[in-house]
Amino acid sequence: MRIAQKAGAALLTFLPAAAGFTQDNAATRPTFSSGYRFVEMTGEELFANVCQGCHMPDAAGAAGAGAYPSLIANRNLATSSYAVHLVVNGRRGMPAFGDMMTDGQVAAVVNYLRTHFGNSYTDAVTAKEVREARR
Ligand code: HEC
Repeated sequence: MRIAQKAGAALLTFLPAAAGFTQDNAATRPTFSSGYRFVEMTGEELFANVCQGCHMPDAAGAAGAGAYPSLIANRNLATSSYAVHLVVNGRRGMPAFGDMMTDGQVAAVVNYLRTHFGNSYTDAVTAKEVREARR
């Protein structure tokens, strides 16, 4: 009984940290190993290995310890530079992938996202546009 109470108290102390996941707080922001580079090259592979862990395989998003927006038929994707900016620089609970992907990889995953999951934006972004977004 005593042990069970202690375990309960310990669990409670962890809950606020989980709830704070979406705040722009370096301590709660998800991190990846520094210096890591993704090896996948196609948008489909990159989405499957990098994005779907949070946004789900069907891009429907999820809500739990954090809120992961749905990317299905998402009007925010109409402006290609918005998605490029988010993937390169991150925002709150969305990690920055700029250092882990080449310009071509960022363009590939953004182009894949903008032409799948009910999105049909055919003005593809180029690696050059991604390079310019990094500045
Ligand atoms: C660690 C979890 C996580 C991963 C991995 C992740 N995202 Fe996100 N993403 C988020 C969160 C959280 C937000 C909401 C950010 C905010 O509230 O400012 C978001 C927001 C977005 C948005 C903006 C949606 C909108 O409605 O404005 C886009 C676009 C996006 N992510 C694309 C991607 C792509 C592409 C990848 C893969 C390269 C990816 N995300 C990987 C967590 C993640």
